[in-house]
Amino acid sequence: MINKIKISAISGSLRKDSYNSALVKAAIELKPENMDIEILDIGEIPMFNDDVRIKSIPESVKIFSKKISSAGGVIIVTPEYNYSIPGVLKNAIDWISKMPGQPFDEKPVAIMGASPGMLGTIRAQLHLREILFCLNAKLLNKPEVYVNLAKEKFDSEGKLLHEPTKEIIRKLLGALSMQSEK
Ligand SMILES: Cc1cc2nc3c(=O)[nH]c(=O)nc-3n(C[C@H](O)[C@H](O)[C@H](O)COP(=O)(O)O)c2cc1C
Repeated sequence: MINKIKISAISGSLRKDSYNSALVKAAIELKPENMDIEILDIGEIPMFNDDVRIKSIPESVKIFSKKISSAGGVIIVTPEYNYSIPGVLKNAIDWISKMPGQPFDEKPVAIMGASPGMLGTIRAQLHLREILFCLNAKLLNKPEVYVNLAKEKFDSEGKLLHEPTKEIIRKLLGALSMQSEK
């Protein structure tokens, strides 16, 4: 039996028919054999308030943080909102950044993103890179996965159809698997 690498995956969209959540599901289909991917839901995480954190950390944050801490690596899939990452995603990352042991410290992280527009979340991913740099995550530089023109690449059920995109996701997951094994 192979010892599988445990990866946590986060979609930065709470939307039911989200392209980015569909991209997380595509990653699960395309993952290497030695990897298990668990989707973490950021929808239950309350708005960050440092007073609340100091008094009593919410249960949803504790659970989320524990999963990140124990994962061999993390995949973050971000939409682009106003040239940056969505507030819900930044909120979840801000909570985690203040948890004991700082779970993103030296954590292998792979990022990708999808948008219906031409640039496929390039600007949001640049911001996400800066945030993860601040948290000292082991962010994979390459390959960069920008899924543009998402309407043409997924079917109406949210299944990824575009073969070149599938191939680059396989490469990203392969690189994450190597980084997580170290
Ligand atoms: C508040 C808001 C801001 C947006 N800003 C951008 C943007 O700056 N660049 C872009 O390419 N798309 C932008 N979009 C469009 C999103 O890329 C699109 O809604 C996408 O489908 C969101 O991801 P999801 O399908 O995973 O929910 C924006 C959408 C919203 C709701």
